[in-house]
Amino acid sequence: MTSPAKLALAAISLSRLVASSPLRADSAVIIKRQAELRDEYDFIVAGAGTAGLTVADRLSEGGQYTVLVVEYGYLDGSHDITATGPDAREPFVPEYRSGTRMYNITSAPLVHTTGRPANVACGCVVGGSSAVNGMFFDRGSAEDYDSWVWAAGEDHEAEYAREWGWDNIYPFFQKSVTFHPPDERMQEEYKMTYDMAAWGGDTPIHASYPPFQWPGTVAVWDAWRTIEGVEFPKEHGDGNATGLIWCPNSIDPSDRTRSYSRRGHYDNGANERTNFHLLPAHRATKVVLEEVEGAEDRTHRAVGVHIAPRDGDMWEDGPRLVRARREVVVSAGSVHTPQVLQRSGVGPRDVLEAAGVEVKVELPGVGFNLQDHAHYTISFNYTTDLTPNPGSLASDPEFRAEADRQWAENKSGPHSSNVNGGAFLPLPFLSNRSEAIIESYLAQDPAEFLPSNAHETVIAGYKQQMKTMARMFASNRSAELEWLVSGRGGSSIIMIKIVSRGTILISPEDDGDSRGNVEPVVDWRTFSNPIDAEITAEFLKLARWFMQTEAMQKTFAPVEVSPGVDIATDEEIIAWIKSRISPSNGHLVGTASLGPKELGGVVGPDLRVHGIEGLSVADNSIMRIIPGTHTSSTAYAIGEKAADLVLRRAKANPLPETDPVELPVEEDPAEEDNGE
Ligand SMILES: Cc1cc2nc3c(=O)[nH]c(=O)nc-3n(C[C@H](O)[C@H](O)[C@H](O)COP(=O)(O)OP(=O)(O)OC[C@H]3O[C@@H](n4cnc5c(N)ncnc54)[C@H](O)[C@@H]3O)c2cc1C
Ligand SMILES: *[C@@H]1O[C@H](CO)[C@@H](O)[C@H](O)[C@H]1NC(C)=O
Ligand SMILES: *[C@@H]1O[C@H](CO)[C@@H](O)[C@H](O)[C@H]1NC(C)=O
Ligand SMILES: *[C@@H]1O[C@H](CO)[C@@H](O)[C@H](O)[C@H]1NC(C)=O
Ligand SMILES: *[C@@H]1O[C@H](CO)[C@@H](O)[C@H](O)[C@H]1NC(C)=O
Ligand SMILES: *[C@@H]1O[C@H](CO)[C@@H](O)[C@H](O)[C@H]1NC(C)=O
Ligand SMILES: *[C@@H]1O[C@H](CO)[C@@H](O)[C@H](O)[C@H]1NC(C)=O
Repeated sequence: MTSPAKLALAAISLSRLVASSPLRADSAVIIKRQAELRDEYDFIVAGAGTAGLTVADRLSEGGQYTVLVVEYGYLDGSHDITATGPDAREPFVPEYRSGTRMYNITSAPLVHTTGRPANVACGCVVGGSSAVNGMFFDRGSAEDYDSWVWAAGEDHEAEYAREWGWDNIYPFFQKSVTFHPPDERMQEEYKMTYDMAAWGGDTPIHASYPPFQWPGTVAVWDAWRTIEGVEFPKEHGDGNATGLIWCPNSIDPSDRTRSYSRRGHYDNGANERTNFHLLPAHRATKVVLEEVEGAEDRTHRAVGVHIAPRDGDMWEDGPRLVRARREVVVSAGSVHTPQVLQRSGVGPRDVLEAAGVEVKVELPGVGFNLQDHAHYTISFNYTTDLTPNPGSLASDPEFRAEADRQWAENKSGPHSSNVNGGAFLPLPFLSNRSEAIIESYLAQDPAEFLPSNAHETVIAGYKQQMKTMARMFASNRSAELEWLVSGRGGSSIIMIKIVSRGTILISPEDDGDSRGNVEPVVDWRTFSNPIDAEITAEFLKLARWFMQTEAMQKTFAPVEVSPGVDIATDEEIIAWIKSRISPSNGHLVGTASLGPKELGGVVGPDLRVHGIEGLSVADNSIMRIIPGTHTSSTAYAIGEKAADLVLRRAKANPLPETDPVELPVEEDPAEEDNGE
């Protein structure tokens, strides 16, 4: 039992947090004091992020199951989370400082590129990374999702194909959002196209198009139209995500505010369900596993999670156990899901032992297979730029005044612009060296460029991934380069399918038995495989070539500023890219990936962690291979898919009714007194 002293401490720290929030109306379900926490729930979700809140909403919506979601970030309703355009710059008093909405993690030095460490961007707030992201809201190509099945290897492909692959995940993409098509003016003026068949859901996560595009954006699109071999799919969201695509933003068009998981899966009414508890400002430090007597396959069972407070004093007896009758779902994101699993005794033996964690289920793939979208910036001077252009807001007071007026009137005009289109190009199109590159990739020894402590099963899995990646490199249905169209002369060249693999492993100094404040070691290992540098050099050549095309020359007369014409040979290009490439677009994936155990996989097709009963993973860490898209829409689809899998399991396995499903929430007698 919990000691009274511990409860008192917790009550103080928790009620102080809640007192500064205007969200008291939600108090039926926000857990404010430890005393309100039940000892047991049907389901516990660790992480109220993009996928986690989606799962928790779905598990609780039927009313028959009790659900607790534990989130390390605050329940922060600050104006600047949702405001866009000039509204975001208004003076306001945030509920919590914006610095609290991200983790403070510095990576291992990037020894193959800049030599320096980099910041690891991931959200830390109710809503997770969907509360802090760039709201570019596209989907990957059908092959991007089929590749997770191909990478399961011949012996397991059929098993994974029953639940995954494009055909199985597409309905959950459709379900996960409410789509608002571009209006007729936008279709005409910007030549935007779409197909309603790709959408049709009514979940209040909104996908919409900004009502304004810069003339330069339209002109760049027109320049692409002059190039042979480029595709212009009518709709990208139906699996045809290669070529030049228009995509939505995750913005609610009714007031042009950010649409994110907290609004769509908590403020949507889930916050009024009495069977749903949200515990913000607490960490799920680990999953508590018990041995299952005599079991051969699933040797352990998840009985619950340990939680610890973010603020105030640490509880005297250490983290508190909250039990899960049915399942624990880990949705802590690609950075922290492997950390939670490793702290629980599930992971690579050497890593666990170095951190003093007792090995419960040896699972060498946990924390391996990290991928992200590395990128670098190039810059061209559009010497005959069209007007107005993004610079006009600063240089032309009249234009600025009109823009302000349009925004004030109905949130239209230049201030509403939000990049929502780009070129997603396959390797055979963008490089005439694609065959040679694929050949030299396939000639590699799979172990050669993996971390030296990669387990043989991880190496075997990578060998299968190599075949899968090579297949996609050779295909015109998978993208390898992303180049957004913004109408600006400076832009990011984003590398989609990276062949290097990184790791996220708990630190030897890990403090998971206490508060769990020690962050994991994030090592992207960008360009550890030299093929990546070779491929991305091809991108730069393509970009230069595109700038020289007749249409671009005629409209913009672009002059290369960076890297500059003196960076000419392949060696110079690669050295220049290495000196500045950023390892991340905030799209970390793959650290608890789908796949058979003998191929370094962590979760099976049903998302349950290998070797364990009652434990699944639902977030971007399950992606086996990084898709050719920004990753939030897929996080929602994974959340929807995971909920479906968990609910099917629950239905097939009825447990005896024990308690009424209504969660008792006691009145807090001290509430009026502590509103400092
Ligand atoms: C700066 C930035 C910009 C981005 N821009 C875009 C974009 O424009 N378009 C796009 O599609 N994608 C973008 N992304 C990526 C996208 O937002 C993420 O890939 C996606 O939201 C991840 O979803 P998730 O559910 O896997 O994890 P998250 O949404 O990150 O959720 C994980 C949650 O778990 C919590 N947590 C972690 N550990 C614990 C623990 N031990 N106990 C309790 N809680 C825990 C975290 O605080 C977090 O809230 C961006 C990401 C970042 C960081
Ligand atoms: C990151 O650092 C800032 C500034 O010190 C702090 O306010 C914030 O709480 C930190 N974030 C986390 C997740 O610890
Ligand atoms: C791609 O577009 C075609 C033509 O509209 C459509 O038939 C097909 O279903 C789409 N999706 C995929 C994955 O090919
Ligand atoms: C861009 O080109 C214009 C017109 O030739 C010139 O005036 C300007 O200085 C150039 N800017 C840069 C950064 O090169
Ligand atoms: C804003 O108002 C203008 C003028 O009434 C109208 O033409 C336009 O369609 C409106 N735009 C939006 C996004 O509501
Ligand atoms: C893929 O595209 C390239 C260049 O655009 C073209 O040469 C090639 O024939 C295409 N391959 C297939 C299989 O369609
Ligand atoms: C390949 O493309 C480059 C431009 O990117 C060009 O200079 C070269 O001549 C091409 N090579 C062949 C064999 O077509």
